[in-house]
This record gives sequence, C-alpha cells and structure tokens, in this order.
Amino acid sequence: MSRPTIVLHWVAAALLLFMIPGGLVIDEFEKGPFRSGWIDFHRSLGLIVLVVAFVRVSWRIKEGFPPPLSNTPKWEQVLKKGDHWLLLVASLFMPLSGIVMNVAGGRGLFFFGVELVATSGVKVQPWANLAGNGHSLGGDVILAGVVLHVIGLTRRALRSKDGTLRRMFGLRVTPKA
Ligand code: HEM
Ligand code: HEM
Repeated sequence: MSRPTIVLHWVAAALLLFMIPGGLVIDEFEKGPFRSGWIDFHRSLGLIVLVVAFVRVSWRIKEGFPPPLSNTPKWEQVLKKGDHWLLLVASLFMPLSGIVMNVAGGRGLFFFGVELVATSGVKVQPWANLAGNGHSLGGDVILAGVVLHVIGLTRRALRSKDGTLRRMFGLRVTPKA
C-alpha cells in the first residue's frame, strides 16, 4: 500500500468520522453563538475534506485500487469497489453541496475566518433547496457507505485474517492470494 494512499485515507477517515455526526447534531443546537461557531467550524473543515477528497480521487484514478490480499469472491470485490467509489464520490459531493447551499443561500464562504466568497445576501432559493436536500441525503448515504465499509472489514478480519487492516496501517503483509 503506497504512503499517499495510507496518509490520505486516515486524514479523510478522521475528518469524515467527525464531520458526519458533527453535521447531524447541528439541528439539535438552539440558534445562538455556539451554533453559528459550530457551523463555521463545520464549513471550514468541509473545505479541507474537499481538497483531500480531490487528491484521493486523482490518486485512485492514477494508481487504481490496492489488490486483495487473499482469494476474494467476485461479488465481494464488486461490492467493495462500489463502496470505495461511493465513499470517494460522496466525500467530494458533501463539501460541494455544502458550498452551493451556502452561497445560493446568500451567505459568504469563510475558511477559519478568511473570506473566500463575499456575502451577497442574494438568495437563489431553488439551488439552495436542491443543494440542501442533496447535502442532507448525501449525509445518510455516506454514513451507510461507512457502515458497509466497517462491516466488510470486520468480516475480512474475522474470516480471512489476511492483514487487510494491518496493510492500511503501513505494516508489511504477505499476500495469501
Ligand atoms: C465532508 C464534508 C461534509 C460532510 C460529511 C457534511 C455533513 C453534514 C451533515 C450529515 C449534515 C446534517 C444534514 C441534516 O440535518 O440532514 C450537515 C449539515 C450542514 N452542513 Fe455539512 N457536511 C460537509 C461539508 C459542508 C460544507 C463544506 C458546508 C458549507 C460550506 C456545510 C454546511 C452545512 C450546513 C450549513 C448544515 C446545516 C444545514 C441545516 O440544518 O440547515 N457542510 N452537514
Ligand atoms: C472506522 C474507520 C475505518 C477503518 C478501520 C478503515 C479501514 C480501511 C482499510 C483496512 C482499507 C483497505 C481495504 C483493502 O485493502 O481492501 C480501507 C480502504 C478504504 N477506505 Fe477506509 N477505513 C475507515 C474509515 C473510512 C472512511 C470514514 C472512509 C470515507 C471516505 C473510508 C474510505 C476508504 C476508501 C475509499 C478505501 C479504498 C482505498 C483508498 O482509496 O484509500 N474509510 N479502509
């Protein structure tokens, strides 16, 4: 497993495992400075995810996916690849839909206080609604993708014991396939 794959995977995984519940709790907070601060933090971290996801997708297109370490049935290979693509595309879609929702809602775009897009105050409601619904649905889809990812890895760790997890930590493993 190449270094960039490993580093980018864990950076993206840590950010997304924070961002998904971090987005879902927004509605639980009452309007006020804490909620606004939390949303600002959510937006800023989301922009980092966008950059990381873009690099990851480019890297996967260039390098392909890591080969399985032991004999894997065809259905499992297809499901795994599909889920990996879903996770990669969703980690691009989530920040992009967040940005559109934000800007079409007439709000500015800030990265830890640095203005990237000025507040216009002009609302393009159909776009804001479309992106908002997409962001909400995308949150559920990416969460389902992560659950499937973890189930697949647990199954592999219990049944095949082929070192799939150890390889993602950069440890040397001998393929059984
Ligand atoms: C990896 C990136 C991101 C993930 C995983 C993510 C995830 C989520 C989730 C799961 C929700 C809850 C949706 C719901 O209540 O149904 C949410 C809400 C929200 N997100 Fe994101 N988000 C990301 C990036 C962004 C970005 C870049 C922005 C803006 C620039 C943004 C702005 C918002 C806002 C404003 C809400 C609150 C929506 C509302 O309840 O009115 N998000 N996010
Ligand atoms: C509970 C935390 C996680 C663990 C333990 C974990 C572990 C792993 C492992 C062991 C692999 C290698 C699979 C193989 O070689 O067949 C992998 C690949 C992958 N994981 Fe995760 N993962 C986690 C969270 C996530 C999250 C949150 C995402 C969401 C973006 C994600 C996206 C991917 C993708 C796209 C791959 C394919 C390789 C790549 O493009 O980097 N993982 N993961």
